[in-house]
Amino acid sequence: MIFSDREQQEILGYLDLLRGEINAKLDEYTNFGSRCPKSLSEPMRYSLLSPGKRFRPILTLLACELSGRTRHHALPAACAIEMIHTYSLIHDDLPALDNDDLRRGQLTCHIKYDESSAILAGDALQCYAFEVLSKHVFPKDTAGRCVAVLPEACGPCELVGGQADDMAWKESGPPSLEFLESIHHRKTGSMILAGLRMGAIIGGASHLQYEKLEEYGRNYGLAFQITDDLLDWVGDEETTGKRVRKDKSQGKLTFPTFLGVEESRNRAHEKVKTACDALDMFKSDSIVYKSLVGMTQHLLDRRK
Ligand code: IPE
Ligand code: IPE
Ligand code: MG
Ligand code: MG
Ligand code: MG
Repeated sequence: MIFSDREQQEILGYLDLLRGEINAKLDEYTNFGSRCPKSLSEPMRYSLLSPGKRFRPILTLLACELSGRTRHHALPAACAIEMIHTYSLIHDDLPALDNDDLRRGQLTCHIKYDESSAILAGDALQCYAFEVLSKHVFPKDTAGRCVAVLPEACGPCELVGGQADDMAWKESGPPSLEFLESIHHRKTGSMILAGLRMGAIIGGASHLQYEKLEEYGRNYGLAFQITDDLLDWVGDEETTGKRVRKDKSQGKLTFPTFLGVEESRNRAHEKVKTACDALDMFKSDSIVYKSLVGMTQHLLDRRK
């Protein structure tokens, strides 16, 4: 889909609006006052409120709108997804995992504070996400359905399992494209899918709408991690806000290491196209549909 300059500006403006709403709500949810030790709330807020792109929670809001309800219903679930995502980044950056000192253009949590603070901030964000979901999503049976979706997505067979295989893929024998895709689906795709699923549930999606959003999410998720792998090869620290050229030296199994840069780009291209095609039933001139397509196409030339 080709957007005019004016449409592109509209899309950017709409995504900024959603980002602003998400940031404000994350701030509100983590204003614990004296109920939570400052030594914990500070590193939690330091990482959570840092300038992330908020793609996952934006997807939750857009899926809700596409499914038929206004986005404010999905804001708690959107924040919950971002909390889990941020916890996963804090732990991903620890010395025992990827050992990174730069994230979102600022020091990683364990460098800014210390390792124990970073571990605990991650732990607390993970649990708090479920508290937010169960307390703030209405009606209660919808909250219950969301509480069934999220833990599976960030549990042992999805996010954490993907992270475990990312760390120890050599133990699973010679690498294959199938296994590489499976790592990416689990460590990254699962959260993107969960965000879309919760948005669809809260929005009251029909069975078919739900399935199409899932198909979209599986392809978006893989394209997202392929382009993240590419950014490590061709991106720069200034723009990405994280260290680059590390995956190869750390022996990671990534798309460019396995398939080369050109073939990885082709794969990302294919996935983006399949993702956008899955949205056909939602096709309209609405800013919601156009923003989702625009955000997906943007993966191919994203620089952060
Ligand atoms: C980084 O995710 C971790 C991956 C799964 C690749 P993002 O690129 O969405 O990071 P933020 O949230 O914008 O910092
Ligand atoms: C991270 O993948 C996935 C999760 C945090 C679950 P990466 O290790 O590639 O992410 P970056 O490059 O550090 O953001
Ligand atoms: Mg990692
Ligand atoms: Mg990492
Ligand atoms: Mg990476």
